[in-house]
Amino acid sequence: MKEPLLEVKGITKKFGNLLANNDVSFNVNKGEIVGLIGPNGAGKTTLFNCITGMYKTDGGQVFFRGRDITNMAPDRICKQGLTRTFQIVKTIKELTVRENVMTGAFLHTNRLKEAEEVADEILELTNLREKAEQPGNSLTIADRKRLEIARVLATRPEMLMLDEAMAGLNQTEIREAMELCLKIKREGITLLIVEHIMEAIMPISDRIVVLNAGEKLIEDKPDIVANNDEVIKAYLGEGYHAKSKKY
Ligand SMILES: Nc1ncnc2c1ncn2[C@@H]1O[C@H](COP(=O)(O)OP(=O)(O)O)[C@@H](O)[C@H]1O
Ligand SMILES: [Mg+2]
Repeated sequence: MKEPLLEVKGITKKFGNLLANNDVSFNVNKGEIVGLIGPNGAGKTTLFNCITGMYKTDGGQVFFRGRDITNMAPDRICKQGLTRTFQIVKTIKELTVRENVMTGAFLHTNRLKEAEEVADEILELTNLREKAEQPGNSLTIADRKRLEIARVLATRPEMLMLDEAMAGLNQTEIREAMELCLKIKREGITLLIVEHIMEAIMPISDRIVVLNAGEKLIEDKPDIVANNDEVIKAYLGEGYHAKSKKY
């Protein structure tokens, strides 16, 4: 099953003289979890912004389901089934948890009842059902990140891109977030995940793409990437294996 769902071809993005993304290419196949890792400032969020139409690229192309989506408006890309979360969580504080999720469902329907049904199904999937009637701002950081994922799931994506959805979580919450990613995968949704917590991203990913200083360093299976000298030098550090924790 090696059908490319997302094809990133030579994406380049400049900020003045800075090459934030330099000719970056990789595919994400249908049904996979691909982890995108690399040091701070490597260009991961910029790449997400280029793929999802938030930034205009300075070169290269993006294909989704074989269709050229390069520089298409973000809402049009989302409507085609490719969506993302943000590094900074965007909960609508005035709405309940359920209403927050419903805002996602309204992408495809303007019927209240249908949006409620979709929201309830997603709240169940993301273990937020018991908190449905609470205001969005009453949630812990972990639940807010979960809500953010629930909201984008309600748009019925074929592929979901998560930008540091586990930052700031404790060990139990990280474990739960990993389980949620695997659950989303089992629902048939393809995932591209930016994450700094190696002990979380390595075990759940089918493949890893490493970015460094705007360029792709390597793309391979997690165990091969974790033992690659260049990756250890640029990002993981010599003590990576010794320090490795299990969640
Ligand atoms: N809107 C912007 N304007 C100018 N420089 C930016 C902008 N966004 C990101 N950068 C720069 O591009 C580089 C890559 O940033 P980013 O994509 O946020 O990296 P990462 O997500 O991997 O930490 C950094 O040097 C950052 O300062
Ligand atoms: Mg980032």
